[in-house]
Order: sequence, then C-alpha cells, then structure tokens
Amino acid sequence: MPILKIARMGHPMLTRTAQPVPNPEGPRVKQLVRNMVETMKDADGAGLAAPQVHVSRRVVIFQAPPERSLPGLGEEEAFDHSAPLTVLINPEIDYLTEEMEEGWEGCLSVPGLTGLVPRCAHIRYRGYDTEGTPIEREARGFHARVVQHECDHLDGILYPQRMTDLSKLMFTSESRHWAEALAQDLPLEEEL
Ligand code: NI
Repeated sequence: MPILKIARMGHPMLTRTAQPVPNPEGPRVKQLVRNMVETMKDADGAGLAAPQVHVSRRVVIFQAPPERSLPGLGEEEAFDHSAPLTVLINPEIDYLTEEMEEGWEGCLSVPGLTGLVPRCAHIRYRGYDTEGTPIEREARGFHARVVQHECDHLDGILYPQRMTDLSKLMFTSESRHWAEALAQDLPLEEEL
C-alpha cells in the first residue's frame, strides 16, 4: 500500500471545497480509502480527509485512539474504541445543540501545532461507506470533535480558522509549559 503525501497548511488543495463522490462503492474509492487508512496510521493521526492527500473528494476516515478519549464522560458520550475505523463518504452533519465545547486539536496538515477549538458538543452525522451502505450516528465529545474537524477539511477549513482565541494556538512541544503555568489556577485540559 502506498503511503500518500500529506498536504500542509498553505497548499491550495486544503482551501478548496471538495466534490461529492458520485459512486461511493466504486473500486477507485475503495483504493483511495485503503491508501488513506495506511497513510493515517503511518502518520499516527486520528483522522484524515481526502483533500489532505490531494484528492478533492468528499471522503473522510477517522478513529479515536484510546489516549485521545475524554475521561470522565459517561458511557453514552465516550468514543467506542472497539468500533472499526469509520469511513464516511459524502458526509453531512446536523448540529443537535447550540452548546459549544472547547478541546485541543491537532492536524496532520498543521504539523507540530495544537490549538484550543470550540466545537458543537452534540451532532448527528450521515454518509455512506465503501459498500454504499448508509451510516447515521449521533456523537458527542471527542467523537463529535473529530467528525467536525474532518468534515471541515471538505469545505477547505483548517482548525485554526475555527479558533476564537489564537493565543491558544501553540507548538505541541511547548504546550506542557502552558499547562504547568495554568495548573495553579485552573484544572488541566484533558488532552494536555
Ligand atoms: Ni486535520
């Protein structure tokens, strides 16, 4: 399986609106998804969108590694780590609450950085897998976050564009200092 090259912030592919996939069960889509899965695992990412590998189509994959889960959430809100990796073709999101939650995000297209991003706390998402089977799920917490992050890539949006406080955009290697400085006054953010 080839490992695909990942576009980084500044590449125009990442600012384009990706096109719908006319035939989700087609062989070319299966091949693309296989290569995206290999690329995501090789890069140790939680998700990947087709535009990140220079394919302007509405395809995302995601998987939340156990260490990325949010402790303290109820069963219903926790990511199902036993679930297979999810492939979503032509995804759509319904926002089920106006409540926003802040959480730390990184992106394979923005290497070395992390930022605090507000996201809708509760969503429903729909799409198709590579057999053309409809998928519909509700998601909260990190699960909801990763879906919103990946689907944003299909509309040419990177997570820094969703941030409301750019002082919380930082190098991952410095973020522990930031956490230490805050530790006296505020609870640590989960992912730091
Ligand atoms: Ni990303």
